[in-house]
Amino acid sequence: FAARQISQSVFGAVQRRTFSATASNATKVAVLGAAGGIGQPLSLLLKLNPRVTELALYDIKGAPGVAADISHINTKSTVKGYEPSGAGIKECLTGAEIVLIPAGVPRKPGMTRDDLFNTNASIVRDLAKAAADACPEANILVIANPVNSTVPITAEVFKSKGVYNPKRLFGVTTLDVVRASRFISQLKSTDPATENITVVGGHSGATIVPLLSQAGYTLEGAERDEYIKRVQFGGDEVVQAKGGAGSATLSMAMAGARFAESLLKAAQGQSGVVEPTYVDSPLYKDQGVTYFASQVELGPNGVEKIHPVGKVSEFEQGLLDVCLKDLKSNIEKGEKWVKENM
Ligand code: NAI
Repeated sequence: FAARQISQSVFGAVQRRTFSATASNATKVAVLGAAGGIGQPLSLLLKLNPRVTELALYDIKGAPGVAADISHINTKSTVKGYEPSGAGIKECLTGAEIVLIPAGVPRKPGMTRDDLFNTNASIVRDLAKAAADACPEANILVIANPVNSTVPITAEVFKSKGVYNPKRLFGVTTLDVVRASRFISQLKSTDPATENITVVGGHSGATIVPLLSQAGYTLEGAERDEYIKRVQFGGDEVVQAKGGAGSATLSMAMAGARFAESLLKAAQGQSGVVEPTYVDSPLYKDQGVTYFASQVELGPNGVEKIHPVGKVSEFEQGLLDVCLKDLKSNIEKGEKWVKENM
């Protein structure tokens, strides 16, 4: 039995979709780090998403409370919270189609994302091990920073267990696209909802490369430099404004929910779903850069097609050259660490 319905997506767009009221449409989504600054609003947005039928929330503390609260929202999905004790992470992950990982410590003023490496590397490694055991075929969406290194760490864990599928591992860089689109709309007085600036590279500082030329925009001089800096270091604005109480959480939750929604749309048969994301990529492998964010077409098997970077201006090529150098060392750092600390 199939029916057509018009639904309002959590991001405002009214969309027409076909759905089938069968068990095959059951979609379990797990959030690891669900009681945190990102985890809570992300879980809330996922509860509002009609494509999600089961929401499994795990944290080292507080997830049952978040789950109880969210479970009262009058949408159909079921919600359950998990802690390390009891059923724990294994039950949380079993059967999950999508696993979002916002677990880890956020930045404080003056810190770079790489400063988080020592703490977050082991958190992501352990969660990746649990996912590789319990749901090896799930789509793994890594939010925990530094994404440039935590994605290679996750890949190595999956490889060590013989279950690595490069089409199912994603570093979530959507927030960079959201920021790049919002900031250009402020400069050009356009509707931010219809802007979609391609951002390639990685997810920290100089590795974040917005490609304005591909949207038909040119900025010059100080305006251009300020725009690029704002996109690359936009996270710092939030870290400073929060004065030690964390980094972007609400905008990140929106970005993470948008990426999950895109994956679900693609999994449920919609074609032409494209999101920039940091994946195991052939684009710059010849230069030793094994992971790279570019426009990726999503499909039922995860990564369907990795689009090339395309035409860039001379200025953007300069940004890309710096990005590739940094990215290579971020990737090598993650791979080296996890091989020594598996
Ligand atoms: P937070 O400190 O508010 O929340 C983190 C949560 O993770 C806490 O509830 C904590 O109990 C939990 N946690 C810690 N270790 C865990 C483990 N082993 N298993 C399960 N849960 C665990 O931090 P926030 O603000 O939510 O940020 C989380 C991460 O997301 C940080 O690494 C941050 O840098 C990153 N981030 C990524 C962005 C992106 O664009 N990819 C944007 C903003 C933040």
